[in-house]
Amino acid sequence: MSRTGRFGENLAINGIDGSYGWPVIGHTFDYLSDTYAFGRTMRARYGDVYRCSAFLQNFIVFNSPDGAEFVLKDEASQFSSKLGWEAFLGRLFPHSLPTMDFSEHRHHRRIMQSVFKKQALVGYVPLIDQVVIGNLRTWPTHQAMPAYPAIKALTLDIAAKAFLGLELKQDTHFINQNFIKLNNGLAAIIPWPLPGTALHQALKARSNIFNYFSPLIPQKRRSEGQDIFSRLCQAQDENGADFSDQAILFHLSNVLAAAHDTSTTSLTITLDLLCQHPEWQQRLREQCLRIDPQDITYDNLESLEEIEWVFREALRLFPPAPQLFRRSIKECQFGNHIIPANTQVMVDCGYIHRSEHYWNEPTKFDPERFSPARNEHKAHPYNWFPFGGGSHTCIGLRFAIMTAKIALYHLLRDYSVFATEQARYRILPITKPRNGLPVILTKN
Ligand code: HEM
Repeated sequence: MSRTGRFGENLAINGIDGSYGWPVIGHTFDYLSDTYAFGRTMRARYGDVYRCSAFLQNFIVFNSPDGAEFVLKDEASQFSSKLGWEAFLGRLFPHSLPTMDFSEHRHHRRIMQSVFKKQALVGYVPLIDQVVIGNLRTWPTHQAMPAYPAIKALTLDIAAKAFLGLELKQDTHFINQNFIKLNNGLAAIIPWPLPGTALHQALKARSNIFNYFSPLIPQKRRSEGQDIFSRLCQAQDENGADFSDQAILFHLSNVLAAAHDTSTTSLTITLDLLCQHPEWQQRLREQCLRIDPQDITYDNLESLEEIEWVFREALRLFPPAPQLFRRSIKECQFGNHIIPANTQVMVDCGYIHRSEHYWNEPTKFDPERFSPARNEHKAHPYNWFPFGGGSHTCIGLRFAIMTAKIALYHLLRDYSVFATEQARYRILPITKPRNGLPVILTKN
């Protein structure tokens, strides 16, 4: 007998072995208390495909690189990203890349691609560099400061300058405040926009952001600006198709949201790991000292390859998006398992990244596993995929790595960093140190 959920999705997945957990809440608290431990327990009990229930949804979990490839690469066009992310993104970002599928998605992504091609990235470098230098100067030395809020402020400033091209401080403040409310709506516990709820505030914030940016679009379409907003306004595919004003507003706010928490989290974790491994801080510093701070260019950043290993290792141990969702749009088969049509599926990236089936000493911090001599992450295309895979692979991947390198370059070159206490992380909905990660900076 077929049963459907809040979004019309199929709930009848008893044909797959697994566990629904408690009535209504399912395994939500298992995911929230320790998503990695829960993933290990379920894999040991049920293997690499199982059914589960959490966050008011029933879904089928894939926790092997082959399973991740089957779902994310989706060679037979069997999975919808739009329907998979509906519960999380549908209300706030209904017209964004993750909430589009197939030909519509291809069309918008092709236009958006020009915003992230090399020539554009080269132009973002000085904007980011300037913000990082100015922002780091405000960080206190020789006294404890929570690193997480400081990094969050840094990534907000990067967004204001490199994404939006904002010059005025009061405009930056207005947009940052609204943007924080908009992002909080993504993790809203109450799924209805009742007055006073996070979702209600997020929708109000979105309309404030749209009202602010809408009148700027005609001028941005004509400008030579290097920021992402200007480039979105001018973006065209190879046939000259461009974005409507409404598409610009949705894509801009979604790109900001997709970039902000992920960048904040990944930089915080990298810093934490470097505090735990001062020998790596020193090793990276030596590499940084080979480049003059006046000479930060796209090509010079490429040469900071050990920073990239460390950043990749941080993303392996704590992928900011440890679970990726899709919905099957037709019945399909993976191994012996029949996946019914219209069923939520989840790819457990967090589990795969830490599994002894796919990595040597998976819990060890070992950035050299990404060195060309070892290339452990290349054992399978879906062994390491913090940026997803297939047609929805993170469009800001190079931008994210570039930003991390610029920030870490200036931080490590100029300062030594010590954590005053060990960070304890809350993993979902986005990885965040509960104690803010207090650190002390000393000038080198
Ligand atoms: C360390 C930082 C980042 C991580 C770990 C990350 C991770 C991801 C992942 C896993 C996806 C795929 C989601 C899925 O398949 O359902 C994704 C998509 C996306 N990301 Fe990122 N991201 C990061 C930074 C950024 C940045 C800096 C930008 C923009 C400047 C960005 C823009 C996007 C967009 C627009 C999508 C949707 C792509 C599509 O659906 O076609 N991300 N990201």
